[in-house]
Amino acid sequence: MERTLIIVKPDALQRNLLGEIIGRFERKGLKIVAMKMERISDMKVAEHYAHHVDKPFFPELKGFMQAAPVVLMVLEGLEAVEAVRLITGETKGRTADAGTIRGDLAMSMQANIVHASDSVENGIAEVARFFEESEVMEYDKNDAEWVYSKEELA
Ligand code: CMP
Repeated sequence: MERTLIIVKPDALQRNLLGEIIGRFERKGLKIVAMKMERISDMKVAEHYAHHVDKPFFPELKGFMQAAPVVLMVLEGLEAVEAVRLITGETKGRTADAGTIRGDLAMSMQANIVHASDSVENGIAEVARFFEESEVMEYDKNDAEWVYSKEELA
């Protein structure tokens, strides 16, 4: 099964949206295999947003991401990266599709509630950036046969 990294950003924590966000992922049928709260270090912000470090908005983005703890999660599922991207919605909250996390809960480009890995390769790299392999749990979830078909689970 595929894995994807979620960062529940400081705006979600400050706006009491943590339960709502975790609930949406759970209700979709995604399996939470790792979760912790962390203040993101300078090094990890720079690594995680390496493609943005030269952008004019980077200093404010960095300050925003470090202004409060974030909640880091690894979600597992069939085509989990794409499934989560669809639930998350486009980057800019105010124009993201209704029904998505950002479309329903955010107005901003920067304060957009969650980060989700944008490709399978980045999912693998981002999970490894924030979690030791020993922190990622392997367990049977007893709803799997109701979430997927036998063929999908094989
Ligand atoms: P995320 O999915 O975490 O990936 C990069 C983040 O940079 C993005 O969500 C936004 O929070 C932020 N971001 C992207 N573009 C802009 C922008 N033009 N201005 C401010 N923040 C941005």
